[in-house]
Amino acid sequence: MSETPAPELTAQERTAAEQLFGDRLPLAERFVGHLCTTGIDHGLLGPREVPRMWSRHVLNCAALAPELPEGGDVADVGSGAGLPGLALAIARPDVRMTLIEPMERRVDWLSAVVADLGLDNADVIRGRAEEVTDEVMADVVTARAVSSLKKLVPLTAPLLADDGQLLLIKGRSAADEIDTAVKAVRRFKLQPPAVELLGETILEEPTTVVRIRRTPVSAD
Ligand SMILES: C[S@@+](CC[C@H](N)C(=O)[O-])C[C@H]1O[C@@H](n2cnc3c(N)ncnc32)[C@H](O)[C@@H]1O
Repeated sequence: MSETPAPELTAQERTAAEQLFGDRLPLAERFVGHLCTTGIDHGLLGPREVPRMWSRHVLNCAALAPELPEGGDVADVGSGAGLPGLALAIARPDVRMTLIEPMERRVDWLSAVVADLGLDNADVIRGRAEEVTDEVMADVVTARAVSSLKKLVPLTAPLLADDGQLLLIKGRSAADEIDTAVKAVRRFKLQPPAVELLGETILEEPTTVVRIRRTPVSAD
């Protein structure tokens, strides 16, 4: 890895990072180093993101970590720069993380970072979410900045186990997006979506997620 221009953590960010990553904070710092160097070189993020790599990207994504079930299978659709997939694989070594990404250059970068960090709980699959439904069945499916909720539900719901849930990182448009995704939610027999703020007590800007649980298939 080339010399890292990764930003220093502010005091508040350090407290949040220590809480979310625990003794794996050095791995998270190395991930941020990659994002700020090779990640920028590969065009995965713009150079203007460097000063806010912790707050806007890595901590924002790691805020989902406490929501993952112990030892669960988690799939991240459209991982791109490993957000949130790699942040979560670092924060939660007990979960098995599958990163799903169709673009070859991104897959190559993700695989190189997984190898460099020695993350034995993360696999990278090259493909579109709709192409890997036979290979992936997850307790939690995550996604950030992939598409509108209306399109994202049909991409992610087929990857869910019967009692699984979607945790989709969204911005301020979350409630409006839910309104336009009603049909898709019904079609995949999912429970009504809920907008939640995660990391409220530790992050300057909490993470907005849309949580959608799958309705368990009834026995009758
Ligand atoms: C804007 S990027 C966001 C990347 C990352 N999640 C983030 O927040 O930085 C969207 C990513 O979704 C991927 N993508 C688009 N359609 C997809 C699909 N049908 N299945 C899986 N990934 C997809 C793209 O290749 C791209 O890497």
